[in-house]
Amino acid sequence: MFFVLLACLFLDFTLVRSHPVLQFCDTTNNYTSGSNFGKNLRQLLSPLPARGSATGFYQGTAGSGADRVYGLVQCSGDVSPDVCRSCINRTTTEIAILCPNQREAALRYDECLLRYADWRFFSQLNLLKLSFPNPANVSANPVAFGKMVGDLLTNLSGAAATQSSLFATGMTGFSDTLKIYGLVQCTQDMSDGDCRTCLQNYIAQIPVCCNGSQGAQVLGLNCGVRYEIHPFYQISQRNYTPPINTSGSEGNNMSKAVLAIIIVAIVGVVLILAAGIIVWILKRKQASRRRADGIDGEDIRKAEVLLFLRKLIITEADRTSKRYGMGIFSSSDDVSNLQN
Ligand SMILES: *[C@@H]1O[C@H](CO)[C@@H](O)[C@H](O)[C@H]1NC(C)=O
Ligand SMILES: *[C@@H]1O[C@H](CO)[C@@H](O)[C@H](O)[C@H]1NC(C)=O
Ligand SMILES: *[C@@H]1O[C@H](CO)[C@@H](O)[C@H](O)[C@H]1NC(C)=O
Ligand SMILES: *[C@@H]1O[C@H](CO)[C@@H](O)[C@H](O)[C@H]1NC(C)=O
Ligand SMILES: *[C@@H]1O[C@H](CO)[C@@H](O)[C@H](O)[C@H]1NC(C)=O
Ligand SMILES: *[C@@H]1O[C@H](CO)[C@@H](O)[C@H](O)[C@H]1NC(C)=O
Repeated sequence: MFFVLLACLFLDFTLVRSHPVLQFCDTTNNYTSGSNFGKNLRQLLSPLPARGSATGFYQGTAGSGADRVYGLVQCSGDVSPDVCRSCINRTTTEIAILCPNQREAALRYDECLLRYADWRFFSQLNLLKLSFPNPANVSANPVAFGKMVGDLLTNLSGAAATQSSLFATGMTGFSDTLKIYGLVQCTQDMSDGDCRTCLQNYIAQIPVCCNGSQGAQVLGLNCGVRYEIHPFYQISQRNYTPPINTSGSEGNNMSKAVLAIIIVAIVGVVLILAAGIIVWILKRKQASRRRADGIDGEDIRKAEVLLFLRKLIITEADRTSKRYGMGIFSSSDDVSNLQN
């Protein structure tokens, strides 16, 4: 099979990359416009922004038989649901333009990956990869630096394989002034073992593609690794699936949950007290008005106050739960080079 692989060379100073980091179109395998495959593909793609951003990962199919379409989307583990949704939205639109009428295609930005095909590619490891060395070189001791990069990313691979998100970030100090930040992620259809295999394969590519670079990215369809000497990912990452059963973060999650409950409880008590006072004031007012004109609006008013109160409590609880794990998108503004 002949695949067209295209990675774009660019200098990007905006928050979001303007070109995909990976574009994969199988131009040997086209469908005709208006065919069932095309209809199934549209049916698969349109709900993907909502479905994918709900948890950061979604795989599904549309249609049946030879015209069945298999699709997968995944967002980087450090982006917020909003960034995730808009990235998937963008890829679903762009893939139709960049890979017109192809029965198999993939598009990857730093924030998300979209892939579809006419065959069941789920859980099938593919080690195709692209490398993007940061053109700036590390000045001091590149050999020791490279070794530490390998150690950091290998450690992160082990951590990622134990997470349901198959995602991990971490930092290590190379010297007093130089830190190394790493990120690894596999698509969530991978088994733990295939995830490790993929990450190790890509990490092993770094000394080959990017010897001495102060940053690099190696990525493909099933996994990706990246390191830089500055934090390029959002540190307070969103946990799409809360790591309830992860050693180490358990206590932290527990105390956050307790804190959230306490905050909600305090806010609730304050609001109920406030509502009591409001109801009491309204009652007095109405009582005096009733005395004046004889109209009984008390029950309606009370219901309105209670409804208002319930809305406030729900909003506050919602906001509290959202505050944990919400990330803000961080820029990825490195200069990237094509390197096959
Ligand atoms: C498939 O479509 C692409 C783009 O529309 C075209 O370049 C390519 O030649 C087509 N391939 C075949 C086998 O018809
Ligand atoms: C997707 O993008 C289009 C414009 O390209 C916009 O009109 C639409 O509201 C977006 N949908 C979502 C779910 O973000
Ligand atoms: C980094 O090193 C490579 C080879 O070791 C060299 O080709 C490249 O010009 C260097 N880049 C800079 C910015 O010095
Ligand atoms: C990798 O993990 C090992 C064992 O936990 C640890 O000793 C080492 O410092 C770690 N290395 C890096 C670069 O994170
Ligand atoms: C990386 O570069 C260093 C010198 O900067 C060299 O000694 C080493 O052999 C190179 N490693 C590879 C894998 O090319
Ligand atoms: C928690 O993790 C342990 C080992 O990591 C596993 O055996 C157990 O089934 C997990 N429990 C839940 C509820 O996922």
